[in-house]
Amino acid sequence: MDARRVMDSQQRLRSAVPDSGIGAMLVSARSLAEYRAMFALSDAVVRRRLLDCPGGAASLTAEVNAAGGDATACDPLYAHTSVDELAARAQADTDRGNRYVRAHPEQYRWSFFADPDEHQRSRYAALTRFTADRRAHPERYMPGVLPRLPFADDAFDLVLSSHLLFSYADRLDPAFHRDSIGELMRVTRDELRIFPLVAMGAVGYPDLDQLLAQLAGQGITTEVADVDYEFQAGGNQMLVCTHRPG
Ligand SMILES: C[S@@+](CC[C@H](N)C(=O)[O-])C[C@H]1O[C@@H](n2cnc3c(N)ncnc32)[C@H](O)[C@@H]1O
Repeated sequence: MDARRVMDSQQRLRSAVPDSGIGAMLVSARSLAEYRAMFALSDAVVRRRLLDCPGGAASLTAEVNAAGGDATACDPLYAHTSVDELAARAQADTDRGNRYVRAHPEQYRWSFFADPDEHQRSRYAALTRFTADRRAHPERYMPGVLPRLPFADDAFDLVLSSHLLFSYADRLDPAFHRDSIGELMRVTRDELRIFPLVAMGAVGYPDLDQLLAQLAGQGITTEVADVDYEFQAGGNQMLVCTHRPG
């Protein structure tokens, strides 16, 4: 894409994805149960070599490994943030995210969580598991910054990416989305799943067709799949990316 078209695309994103008012990017703490629902994960899928990027303070890695699986988390914050510092930041962000949810009821659906109290309890529980596991198994928490990751080609079977791409489209431009998906695909042998496809503020990503066309040009096959989970209104789809054969 030439520079003019990139600028046009960024301009459209800026106007189409308004500032949600959330402020700094949240460090959130989702549980394995929430990941299973968001990504329609079966038991067989959970037994593969998994990468959670960004891992944030999610407990997917802790819970999968405790059950005998093989999961790794990757996030920029694992580089210079101690276990206790990250736990404190994620706790503050859990409270900030929960206040946002309570202040914007029109943007949320209460099927996975019964109410805002359960939302907060679930995130605290995930954060507690994450913190204990990061303390006990620091090697499972690899620092890394998209769009460049510190892993070999095909290091994982399945990569899960939750609540970075698309979620923060008010501040992450189309080139970042394209390059990050290309990099996440480089490190997966089989598949990448991304959730959700709406931004904070429950706004749809405006340039999805253009992005999918670019990915097709890079040999990446994509499918938008419905999932049986909706917390942000309209956030009930994931993007499944695979390598085009040949
Ligand atoms: C909203 S949290 C999502 C965490 C987790 N996936 C979850 O759903 O609970 C967003 C995370 O993205 C991380 N992040 C920000 N920029 C990133 C980048 N360039 N590459 C990888 N992760 C990034 C942040 O540090 C933060 O932990």
